[in-house]
Amino acid sequence: MGKEKEERTLARTDYHLTKLLDYIHTERGIDFSLHRHAAVVRKLDIRLKSAGCKDYQEYLPFLQTHPEEMQDLVRNLTIKASNFFRNPLVFELLHTTVIPELVAEFGFLKAWSIGCSYGEEPYSLAMIVQELITEGSYSFAYNIQGTDVDPDAIEKAKKGEYPEAELIEAKQRYIETCFARQAPPTSVSGGVSYRVKSEIRSMVRFSCTNVMDQLLHKRAYLGSYNLVLCRNFLVYTNKEMQEELFRALQDIVYEKGFLVLGETETLPESVRPGFEQPYPGVRVFKKLRSAAH
Ligand SMILES: C[S@@+](CC[C@H](N)C(=O)[O-])C[C@H]1O[C@@H](n2cnc3c(N)ncnc32)[C@H](O)[C@@H]1O
Repeated sequence: MGKEKEERTLARTDYHLTKLLDYIHTERGIDFSLHRHAAVVRKLDIRLKSAGCKDYQEYLPFLQTHPEEMQDLVRNLTIKASNFFRNPLVFELLHTTVIPELVAEFGFLKAWSIGCSYGEEPYSLAMIVQELITEGSYSFAYNIQGTDVDPDAIEKAKKGEYPEAELIEAKQRYIETCFARQAPPTSVSGGVSYRVKSEIRSMVRFSCTNVMDQLLHKRAYLGSYNLVLCRNFLVYTNKEMQEELFRALQDIVYEKGFLVLGETETLPESVRPGFEQPYPGVRVFKKLRSAAH
């Protein structure tokens, strides 16, 4: 293909891709143009081919006339992988040190799990809180929120039923006290599954929201939190968005509150001076008193 023709084709592809992403943004409130470009394009191309379309121009009307395709597309563009007590060391630290420290400092726990997928993360937190309270050493007010952009994920989270594999990192004592084993054929997967007990389910408030809208465009009221879990979510954002996201998060975390990231994630340089990392090697950051904004 001649250089000029190749450029024209690319420009046309970009135009139709932008139109497609705009449509998804309008319909579902998720702006995938802010997500990692290569990942979005790779996943879009898979959906496009399986729908039998040859390019974005053909795929857009298909999407507009097949609501179930929009559902599948959003599910594919957002990765749901999670586990109860994912990265157990982090939860160990929350249990033994971070939450007791927060309770001593604030007298309450106000936690937000961002991009909570099917609820594994906020429920793990609730299990720790319940254990701390029933151990008898603490009595404290708590508020645990889990939000995700995918409405299906939130519906499943509220139901709280999981295949056995998702409990792989959970300690036996949590499996015994916080879950009810569902034998086939009642279980969702057809195999053995576990349902989070109702007393734990009632400790978490779930809602379907887009964190980008909440934090960056302030489209929803946001309170402050002393514990924010923003783990394995950054994969959806590009560098600039990460900077903005963390600046906004820095504003809503109380001084002496904690921000927890995924195992391979890190704070951007611009907000790094506002936090200390008290536990070497663990992505748990404590907001400093005199955080520079
Ligand atoms: C890989 S899961 C991480 C789950 C959990 N935090 C963990 O670390 O195990 C990422 C989740 O972020 C959600 N997500 C993606 N973009 C989002 C957005 N803009 N607002 C809220 N949630 C989002 C996805 O739907 C997905 O459930």
